[in-house]
Amino acid sequence: MKFFVDTADVSAIRELNELGMVDGVTTNPSLILKAGRDITEVTREICEMVDGPVSAEVVAEKADDMIREGKTLAKIADNITVKVPLTWDGLKACRALSDDGHMVNVTLCFSPAQAILAAKAGATFISPFIGRLDDIHLDGVDLIEDIRTIYDNYGYETQILAASIRTVNHIIEVGKIGTDVITAPPNVIKSMATHVLTDKGLAQFTADWAKTGQKIG
Ligand code: E4P
Repeated sequence: MKFFVDTADVSAIRELNELGMVDGVTTNPSLILKAGRDITEVTREICEMVDGPVSAEVVAEKADDMIREGKTLAKIADNITVKVPLTWDGLKACRALSDDGHMVNVTLCFSPAQAILAAKAGATFISPFIGRLDDIHLDGVDLIEDIRTIYDNYGYETQILAASIRTVNHIIEVGKIGTDVITAPPNVIKSMATHVLTDKGLAQFTADWAKTGQKIG
């Protein structure tokens, strides 16, 4: 399973990247706002740090404008993936940018039908949003399963990038289904390391070790 980090927080990316856990990064306009940085400047910094694909999102609504913005973003670095929304214009932009040799991440996918269109339009990645479906009492993990089945049935090469991940359980569930990639906030990735029995076991070992009166080194 490839791990993308869903943030524009450079220090959080650096911490995970130093452990070799970062296969790529996804950003969006809300994450750029949260980082409080200039999009070109922060995206360039991330691209220099991370070897894998770094998604940068267009904000225009018309295909021609998305294509223009996408080409501008792609000039930031070779590992830029242009992120376009799953609208009809976004699909047109996806086809044009993909034909022009750019990696494209089609975002805001909420149905298998949308995912089929993205694959047909030459998307490198499709980003189904799990958490936002759960928010409206639908099952986001089911969407990943449906897309996996359909893509495998027809040999579509578009990679499934499970997005809007809120919990460790989301990561495990989409991993069992066989998502190609997950993108998750740094705190969710870090919380994969925690377990109540690990904490309990460590406390016991620490207490018993103190009773031995020994030291290592
Ligand atoms: C994906 O690329 C998006 O940036 C992200 O996963 C959205 O997550 P959210 O629904 O938690 O905002």
